[in-house]
Amino acid sequence: MEGSEIYVGLDIGTTSIKVIIAEHVKGQVNIIGYGNTKSEGLNRGVIVDIDQVVATIKDAVKQAEQKASLSVEKVTVGIPANLLQIEKCHGMVSVSNDNGSAREITEEDVFQVTQAALVQNLPPERDVIDIVPDEFIVDGFDGIKDPRGMVGVRMEMHAIMYTGPKTILHNIKKCIERAGLKVDGTVVAPLATAKLAMTDAEQDFGSILVDLGGGQTTAAVIHDHKLKYTYVDQEGGDYVTRDISVVLNTSIESAENLKRTYGYAMANLTSSEDVFPVQVVGKQEPEQISEEYLAEIIEARLRQVFMKMNHALSDVSALDLPGGIILTGGMAALPGIKELAEEIFGVNVKVYIPQEMNLRFPSFAQVIGLVGYVTKQSEIEKLVKESQENDIESVQQFKYNTKVESNNAEEVAPKAGIRLYTGSNNKKETNESVSQVKEEIKRPKVKDEKPKNKGEGFIQSVGNFISKYFD
Ligand SMILES: Nc1ncnc2c1ncn2[C@@H]1O[C@H](COP(=O)(O)OP(=O)(O)OP(=O)(O)O)[C@@H](O)[C@H]1O
Ligand SMILES: [Mg+2]
Repeated sequence: MEGSEIYVGLDIGTTSIKVIIAEHVKGQVNIIGYGNTKSEGLNRGVIVDIDQVVATIKDAVKQAEQKASLSVEKVTVGIPANLLQIEKCHGMVSVSNDNGSAREITEEDVFQVTQAALVQNLPPERDVIDIVPDEFIVDGFDGIKDPRGMVGVRMEMHAIMYTGPKTILHNIKKCIERAGLKVDGTVVAPLATAKLAMTDAEQDFGSILVDLGGGQTTAAVIHDHKLKYTYVDQEGGDYVTRDISVVLNTSIESAENLKRTYGYAMANLTSSEDVFPVQVVGKQEPEQISEEYLAEIIEARLRQVFMKMNHALSDVSALDLPGGIILTGGMAALPGIKELAEEIFGVNVKVYIPQEMNLRFPSFAQVIGLVGYVTKQSEIEKLVKESQENDIESVQQFKYNTKVESNNAEEVAPKAGIRLYTGSNNKKETNESVSQVKEEIKRPKVKDEKPKNKGEGFIQSVGNFISKYFD
């Protein structure tokens, strides 16, 4: 359609690879094709066999291409939060003429300031997943959203930089290129999903997104519309399936089928009277197993995963945020998951299910979120991202409107004081990884703090969270 742009999202998941093709026209995103292929070559969210992943990507893209009747050239890919670092970065450049006089700021200057921020701040052995500008400062005037067209001699940029281990990014990009596609952009996966699954108020006041995938379980804390903390436990739905297979002595395929057909996340929601047949290895006749027994197996593993996550989230006071928890990912389809999460975390829990036709299943949230994320980016955000990923020529070819979104000091001042982030990445145990702001390490542990007065309650808890940790 005339005036429309095509965006393609790619989610390389441990259980399946999902692709959507979307048409962005007049501010509206319409999904015109999708593909979903069982994964091979991934383990716990990480690529372990490039050839297998390439074949699966090709297959999923082909499915989507056939539905959309068009050929895909480039994709926006989600990067899992494993060992993610979230850091604030800063760059500064001179924008004056040769004689030192002030001149108008251009796209090239934004490119230079982005490059300066990257050079000064990129840690070794890490690659940038995304860089999102917070504010620009021109000749000392801060809080500027978009500096293009302004006049000055010096420009600075404060931005948030998301980095991941080089190997993870390299393998993902390699697979995409070997599948004959270009990487249009990399996006921190839980950030994209959160922007889809959370309301504006939930992103503003703070909520936690929990992605219950097949290979891993990820919690992402969003507050003030920003990703503040992630926790990854490399135990997911595959572990639940394996537990069922071992305990019931049945094949992995049969266990997976039982989980999806009869599974419950909480045993007390089931009945011991409801039974179903299970093909047991080495036995001629199927055995009768109760839904209650199956649920006990599932619940045991989920409890363990949630308890560990509860500990990590409590440590950073994230459970005090008013928005509670939003569950997504394939395992969120399990009946009783909301009730189990509510019992363990003690906060409001809801399950997010996308409403797009043919994609009404929680495991599609991420791939839809990826397309939503890129289509909602502002021009200056796109330009900074382009400056990070490409060379100056491609930035010069980019056609942007030179317009300033808001330079009203009163409007932007509250945004100007955003605190410094410095990444940390404590790999607590071999199967967990955490990324968080440095303040968390500096601040005293929650349990050492002065005990709360009874009356302080909810509002105070939220205040503590905001003032001591994330602001
Ligand atoms: N109807 C269902 N009931 C229960 N569990 C389900 C259902 N459908 C899928 N699952 C489980 O969801 C998991 C897959 O979810 P999802 O597609 O979100 O994972 P993924 O993105 O491929 O993996 P990851 O994000 O961990 O790399 C599997 O463990 C699968 O068994
Ligand atoms: Mg996933």
